[in-house]
Amino acid sequence: MYNSKITGLGYYLPNNVVTNNDLSKIMDTSDEWIQERTGIKERRWIDPKSGDSTSSMGFKAAKIAIKRSGLNKEDIDFIIFATLSPDMYFPGGGVRVQDMLGIPTIGALDVRNQCSGFIYSISVADQFIKTGMYKNILVIGSENHSGGLEKSNRGRGVTVIFGDGAGAALVSRCEEKNKGILSSHLHSEGKYARELMLDGPTTARWVPEIISENDPEDESYYPYMNGQLVFKNAVNRFSEVILEGLESNNLKKEDIDMLIPHQANLRISQFIQKKFQLNDNKVYNNIMSYGNTTAASIIIALTEAWEKGKIKENDLVVLAAFGAGFTWGSVIIRW
Ligand code: ACO
Repeated sequence: MYNSKITGLGYYLPNNVVTNNDLSKIMDTSDEWIQERTGIKERRWIDPKSGDSTSSMGFKAAKIAIKRSGLNKEDIDFIIFATLSPDMYFPGGGVRVQDMLGIPTIGALDVRNQCSGFIYSISVADQFIKTGMYKNILVIGSENHSGGLEKSNRGRGVTVIFGDGAGAALVSRCEEKNKGILSSHLHSEGKYARELMLDGPTTARWVPEIISENDPEDESYYPYMNGQLVFKNAVNRFSEVILEGLESNNLKKEDIDMLIPHQANLRISQFIQKKFQLNDNKVYNNIMSYGNTTAASIIIALTEAWEKGKIKENDLVVLAAFGAGFTWGSVIIRW
């Protein structure tokens, strides 16, 4: 059995900054409401004229991660691409990035696990490397939320939370024992599938039916979120899965050097920070500037924290996520 570790990190954000005040011009909301409930001050939304897309942002993040890993694109054995907002219904973003990077005909897998997408993807990469099947895997999380949000009063409860962006990591075989990814822990509870979802179009009710109904009240093709239920489940599941990760490695909360929670809501991160009694320098948040970027959020935050020198060799880094499905998970890394 081999170990795996992260050897390259990168992210890409669209240039277009959308502040809370910008949103208050197109829907009945306010900077005060958004900051108080979520901590968000601004987010990036793709300028439709820019040509950015979920896969092109993933490609740009991937180029940075590959460069920093010191690998050549020919060294990459496999691509894992996590998103809930693909460019196309099918095929997924993985094959698009494979083509954009000009990488030979390696395998590409798409992961549909929403906010837990990066945690699930890193776990899959780790298993492929542990078995010896692959040596270097490119993992990408990318979201173009703004293309599918309802920018009106009706959508305000969801729309103000989400931002666009992409992150990428190279996961590579590691010869050192007790280094790199120590473990990953994945969970789901499908009974809550409809509490955070985008319903349509589905194969049970396809576009011609939607068009013929021509119902202005139809919300099925916009995201729906039962915010308070999501919040309550998130705080519990984050705590459980972080503890599970620590205990399975005989570690304690005092051993955490850096916790990178999925950037769902600053209030959720603060709750976890308090529960685990972590100092401000042991938790990294950037939701204030980027909103919730779903599958991209952990990897963007991890990259930023690393760029700022907040993650050092041998640090214990804990990644944790909760999101639609419900799905949740954690990854424990000895950096
Ligand atoms: N601006 C102003 N008012 C708003 C807005 C808005 N953007 N959205 C809703 N409101 C109003 C509502 O209409 C409601 O008005 P009413 O009292 O007159 O009926 C009032 O504000 C309160 O609405 P709630 O939905 O009860 O507000 P809540 O305090 O629950 O906050 C929030 C909403 C921020 C979504 C919260 O529930 C939350 O953070 N939940 C967790 C969601 C989350 O983290 N999601 C992401 C994780 S999952 C993932 O990442 C995919």
